Order: sequence, then C-alpha cells, then structure tokens
Amino acid sequence: MNIDKITMGVCYYPEHWDKSLWKEDLLRMQENGIEVVRIAEFAWTIFEPKEGNFNFDFFDSFLEVAKEVNMKVIMGTPTATPPVWLTEKYPEVLNSTKEGVLYRHGCRRHYNYNSKIYQELSSRIVEKMSARYGNHECIIGWQIDNELNCELNEFYSESDTKAFRSFLKDKYESLDALNQAWGTVFWNQTYSDWEEIFVPRKVVSDSTNPHQVLDYTRFISDSACRFAKMQSNILRKNIGENIFVTTNGMFGNLDNHRMTKESLDVYMYDSYPNFAFAMEEDPKSSRNLNDRKWSRNLSEVRSISPIFGIMEQQSGANGWNSRMEAPAPKPGQLTLWTMQSIAHGADFISYFRWRTCTKGTEIYWHGILDYSNRDNRRLQEVNEVSKIFESIKELAGAEYKASFGVIKDYDNIWDAQLDEWHKRIEKVSQKGIFQGAQLTHTPMDYVYLNKNTDLEQLKKYPVLFYPHPTIITEDRAQLLKDYVYEGGKLVVGCRSGYKDITGQCVMEKAPGLLRNMTGTDVVDYTFVGPGDEESYVDWKGTQVKASVFNDILEPIEESRSLGTYVNNYYKGKSGLIEKEYGKGKTYYFGGTFSRETTEVFLDKLDISTPYKDIIELPQMCELGVREKNGIKYIFVLNFDNAEQEIYIKSELYNMYTKKAEIGKIKLTAFETKVYKIKR
Ligand code: GAL
Repeated sequence: MNIDKITMGVCYYPEHWDKSLWKEDLLRMQENGIEVVRIAEFAWTIFEPKEGNFNFDFFDSFLEVAKEVNMKVIMGTPTATPPVWLTEKYPEVLNSTKEGVLYRHGCRRHYNYNSKIYQELSSRIVEKMSARYGNHECIIGWQIDNELNCELNEFYSESDTKAFRSFLKDKYESLDALNQAWGTVFWNQTYSDWEEIFVPRKVVSDSTNPHQVLDYTRFISDSACRFAKMQSNILRKNIGENIFVTTNGMFGNLDNHRMTKESLDVYMYDSYPNFAFAMEEDPKSSRNLNDRKWSRNLSEVRSISPIFGIMEQQSGANGWNSRMEAPAPKPGQLTLWTMQSIAHGADFISYFRWRTCTKGTEIYWHGILDYSNRDNRRLQEVNEVSKIFESIKELAGAEYKASFGVIKDYDNIWDAQLDEWHKRIEKVSQKGIFQGAQLTHTPMDYVYLNKNTDLEQLKKYPVLFYPHPTIITEDRAQLLKDYVYEGGKLVVGCRSGYKDITGQCVMEKAPGLLRNMTGTDVVDYTFVGPGDEESYVDWKGTQVKASVFNDILEPIEESRSLGTYVNNYYKGKSGLIEKEYGKGKTYYFGGTFSRETTEVFLDKLDISTPYKDIIELPQMCELGVREKNGIKYIFVLNFDNAEQEIYIKSELYNMYTKKAEIGKIKLTAFETKVYKIKR
C-alpha cells in the first residue's frame, strides 16, 4: 500500500456538490487530518455521457484542485453503476431474478459479470480512465468497481447460463463426469446435452440439486474473480508501479483470497458496525456481542491481507430511504470502531463519507458532516482521531498476533450455505469460537485452506480449530496431518469428513479421510432434537456442552477417549477422542463449539487469556495485539456505553498520553487505549 503511518481518508463525491465547494472541502478535510479522498466509483456517465464519447473535463478539474492543495486520491472504476444508455441498449448486461425478471436501471449493481458486451464496455472505460490518469501525481491507488457481490450475489441472466456451461465444460470435460459429480442419477436428472444445463432455475420446494448449487456458487465466485482480473490487468498496464490496486467490501459467494492474490495489491473492507444497533435489531438482549461482531469480520479480512485498509469506515447513522434505519453513532463510537479496525490490522481508514448526500437513496446514510455543512461533533471526533493516529503512527505495518487459529475453506463455507444440516452446526460453532475467544481475551486468526496454503502458515499456531470440515480432500487431510506431526494441536468437531469435494457423502466410516489421524470412529450420530435434553460430555469432571449435533465415538488406532456423554441414549459412550501423532495431538469432539465449550478447550489446551500476567480486562472490553520488531502493541477497546475498569499488572506505556501506567485504570464509555510492551 506504500503507507508508512496510519493514514486517514474519506469517501468524496465531487459530482454531488457544487464545484465552488471542492477546494474548501479538501482544505477542511486536511485541517482535520484527512489526507486521501476516494472518488469516482459511481461516475461512469460523467466520463462517458454517450456510448463511445469520452469526456474527462469534470474529473480533470477536480484533480486540478486536489493537486493544488496536495490531496491524495484513490480513483474508483465506475462499473458498479452502468449508464442508462448502456443498459437500455444492451439489456443482456443486466442481472435477473431466478424467475427471469431483469433488474433495471435505478439502483446499483444490476449488471452481470458474464455479458460479453459488459466486459467490453467495462474494459474500455477502465482503459480510458487509467490511460488518462494512470500517472497522475495525486493518485495513489485504484479501486476496482465497488463492493463486488454486494446487493446481489446470485446471477441468473442468459450470459450467466452460457458462461456456466463453459465453466462446467472446462471443469468436467465430459457430461458423464458432470453427471457423476452432480449425482444426476438421483431423481432422473441426467443430462445428455450441455445445452440442457442452466444456472439454477425455479424448481419445486426451491431444492435444486445440491451438487449443482455448490458448483454454481463456485462459478459465481469465478465470474467475479475474472471480472476483477480483467480490470486489474488493464490498470496494471497503465498505472505507475507504486500505485496500488484494491477493491472494497467483503461479500458472499466470492473467494476473496483468490481475487486478492490474482488481482490486488491490498484488500480493503467496508466496516459498518452500527448495523448491530439498527432498528430491527435487539441489542439490549442480544448475546451476540453486537458491534463487537465486526471484529470477526475484520479477522476474516486479515486472513486475506494481513495489513489492510478500510475503504469505508462508519462515521454516521445508517439508512437508505427504503431500509436499514439506525441511530447515530454515540459520542466515542466513531473512534471505537476506527480503533477496532486498526487493532485488527488496518493501516488506512477512510470514512464513509465526507458529507451526507442531500439526494437519492442514501439521504440517511450519514457521513461526517450533515446536510447543512456546519461543524459538528462527528467532525470534532474525526479531528481527535487524527491525533490518536499521530500518537500511534509507529505501529503501521505491525501484524496482529493471534494465540490460535480457526481453519476455514470456501468449499465448506459454500456447502454450509446450501445444506441445512451443515449450516446449523457451522453457525453455532463459528459464533461460539469467536465469542469464546473474545470474552477470554484470547486473540484468534482465521486461516484459509486453499491451494496456496502451506505448512509454515499453519505452524504459526500452537492450536488450530477446524470446527466441521464436512468436505475434506486428500491434500487438505495430508496438510493437517503434517501440522499435527510437527507439533500442532488440531481440534475438530462433529460431522467431519463425510463428504467429498462434490458435496456427495462418501461410503466410508466417518470421519473418512480424517479417521486415521484422529483415531476416531463415528459409530452413530444424531441431532440433539428439540425434545432432547441439552447434551454434555464429561471431560474429566468438566461438563462440556455438546449442543445441536452429536457424533457417538469410539477410539481406534491407539487413541483414547477423554470424555463420555452424560445423557441421551448414548450416555457413557465417547464424545471426545485424543490421539497423539508425531509431536502433536488431535482432538475429535462429538458436538459443536458453543462459547462455553470453546472456553473449556482454550483452557484445557492452555492457550486461554495469554496476557493475563500483564493485564486483566472485564468481558465488555476487547483485547487486540499487533506486533512489529519484537514490540507488542496492546489495544483495549471498551464496547460498553458505560465506564469499565482494567487492571494493569506490570507497567505499560500508554501511547496516547505517552505516560507509563500501572494498577487500576478506568475507561469511559467506548474509550480505547493502545499500550506498548517491549519484549
Ligand atoms: C457501502 C457502499 C457505499 C454506500 C455505503 C452506505 O455498501 O460501498 O457506496 O452505499 O455502503 O450504504
């Protein structure tokens, strides 16, 4: 990213304001610590008002002003919002509902990635813009499109069906292979011509063949990745070497890791934690950690780009005129959410947006300033944040320091979307592990398994959870085995290893490819039904919750049972098996990982609360750690709208005040701190 300090930016829309405001806006931003503006991501018609007629006057003059005041710029490619001349002339560029109704002009993200004409016209506008501005002295980076797969992440246009067929031809080569992979012998679904294959269409009970849906999801991701690559190839040809290429957001049905590796220099996220307090939420009785849940998203982002940017950081209330109403952030929350992003690895924070728009769908999506343009408390808070940035600038480039990792992979994520059995367990465990880690102040990372993942990446973690690797492949099983052999501890939960890469169940004793390495035989299994008691496993006197689903286990191959079920018809049977392998161990747990269960595992595996000798925090505060050159930076984030007290046991250096602190320290509502410890 070429950013050597924590840097502040803002999203700005020169086209929404009178030109006479530009200079004053930019100067006022700078007075308040803002050094970068992101522009142009929805402005296609301004660049190309008619097909093939290009006009750069408007943005030329804006960039002149930026140059005059020395403002840095991130330029967006405008493909998220095609001009109306384009969609009216070429309706095939539009996305459609499953029923075949086209999404028309008037909102955004209504195009599909696979239309040839859309690819051509998008390539041309990106080519023209980057040829003109590729070496502009103000521009430090380019954003591809805006939030790929936001609003809609399913595509049903005719172009998609055509592209799906060629995706499948490349993948399977023959219809026989496709029929095998999709198990089409079931319910007489056999295909005898490629033209008979479509993206999912309306079917009875909305239950399309699951193996087809899994491939379709892979296809959507592939389409988005190819669309991003098409743009980044053009940008790279035209822009200077030190200028970065990025995109923003993090949405479903998209392998963001692949896209980043193929097309980006850095990945950027849009962080809107205020969704937790939206009018339809129930934050008072929620056991969901509310806005702190965004720490989970930020941990995902970090798995894509260890150091990343926030292209859109919440600065005001949410709201389209048609949905998503939420209160204004309270004093201190803007700072809290900013520091949440930085704690997790962001070195660039760009607020959404400078001034609240006075027209259109987003009149209630507030920026820093209100419509009136007067100074307000949010601008004051941004100004104060910029002083914090100054005080912590040395930590730019420091990496988040996790005490354990949670393994994920896209095959299982996408399988859990379409398979209710899988979804139910995955949801509980993903939430439970995150909450267990948060509330015990045990920093965690997500680690994605893909074709580039190697043993060294896994070896960074003494413990890895892979909650429910329902789909497992030989390569992945081997990598996990190597990890354990070298000394890692691997924890897996129920329903592991019973599917292959197509999503079909294997005719093997579960957990299939994980059977030998975990020394586990799953002899029986069941949901814990609504009529059953909550399920527990007794782990040497500790009652461990085994909610939702139970695998009933037997140890094989020199493994041993560590705990047995205490109720239901399988009382006394094993629910937890440990196996030593090489220098490490595996743990097969028969249930899901609720928060309570996770806390027991963290404790028993001796990784819970790693900073307890230095600092004690109440549950309402998050602890995050970044490290650079042997120096650790400890973030303390008070998510509570009330005072909280922490206890520093050995002296820490407060980076905001530049003073040493020890003993009991109070944090006001939403207050944050960053402490430094030397090794
Ligand atoms: C993001 C998007 C912005 C703006 C913002 C508030 O999803 O990138 O353009 O729409 O949300 O809705």
